[in-house]
Amino acid sequence: MSPPKPVRKAVFPVAGLGTRFLPATKAVPKEMLTILDKPVIQYAVDEARQAGIEHFVFVTGRNKAVIEDHFDFQYELHDTLEKRGKQEALDILAKYQPDAGTTSFTRQQKPLGLGHAVWCAREIIGDEPFALLLPDMVMKDKKGCLSGMMDLFRETGGNIIATEEVAWAETHKYGVIERGNDRGAGFEITGMVEKPKPGTAPSNLFINGRYILQPEIFDLLEKQKPGAGNEIQITDAMQKLAKTQQFFGHLFTGNTYDCGSKEGFIRANLAFALDDPELSADLLVEISKLTT
Ligand code: G1P
Repeated sequence: MSPPKPVRKAVFPVAGLGTRFLPATKAVPKEMLTILDKPVIQYAVDEARQAGIEHFVFVTGRNKAVIEDHFDFQYELHDTLEKRGKQEALDILAKYQPDAGTTSFTRQQKPLGLGHAVWCAREIIGDEPFALLLPDMVMKDKKGCLSGMMDLFRETGGNIIATEEVAWAETHKYGVIERGNDRGAGFEITGMVEKPKPGTAPSNLFINGRYILQPEIFDLLEKQKPGAGNEIQITDAMQKLAKTQQFFGHLFTGNTYDCGSKEGFIRANLAFALDDPELSADLLVEISKLTT
């Protein structure tokens, strides 16, 4: 078997309104709220870069222009820092600066669901496999969830979905997969369902927001009718694609924080701060003060 076409591009759907964080998200997109010193979106982009992604495709919406600014080269800032000899700050900017021509932005004109947002990237992705990262799901892991998926993809080709175990009582909040036989470092996926009714989930392995998909998904998304929540769901289109192509599961064992919720967002801030040698000692003292 010839090796699968490489995964060079990643899609980041960032059109959501972020109503759970109002009023913070009235003028600032939820993806720009910060976990420690980086905006939420930066974590998914870093994970993609670590996995070898070369082109970053953002599906934005109204009021999201600042995301584009964040990934642009800020000439005035750069110039001022240089004149002031602020090398440390310049190094930070350089570390996170995507190369010219490696980002693309397109708009999801109507909020019709995640599947529709992904479909909006079809022209930029073209005829090659691509990664999909939902930036609300912030992952903390040395290797990176997408890197683990890429290893599996090089072995199996096809489509890859990252999964994690969740309490059975929580399965109705997510997409859930049915696990088949082991395959390489992962396993075959024999079924999937978006937001199963309580008590009906085929497993407690939920889809954690990281995917590698073949471009044939776009034609299916184009025809996809609204599903759960009356939205066009990526899971429903993947279910159809699974009739003609293989899907494999990667079990992610790092930490995931759902930063679409306040609780997940605070947890993520705590986890990254406690990992920072400059902050952890004082923070632990503060936490113990607050909790005793
Ligand atoms: C989306 C996906 C779902 C996945 C979840 C992970 O749902 O449709 O399959 O489990 O992201 O966060 P949403 O969070 O948009 O409701």
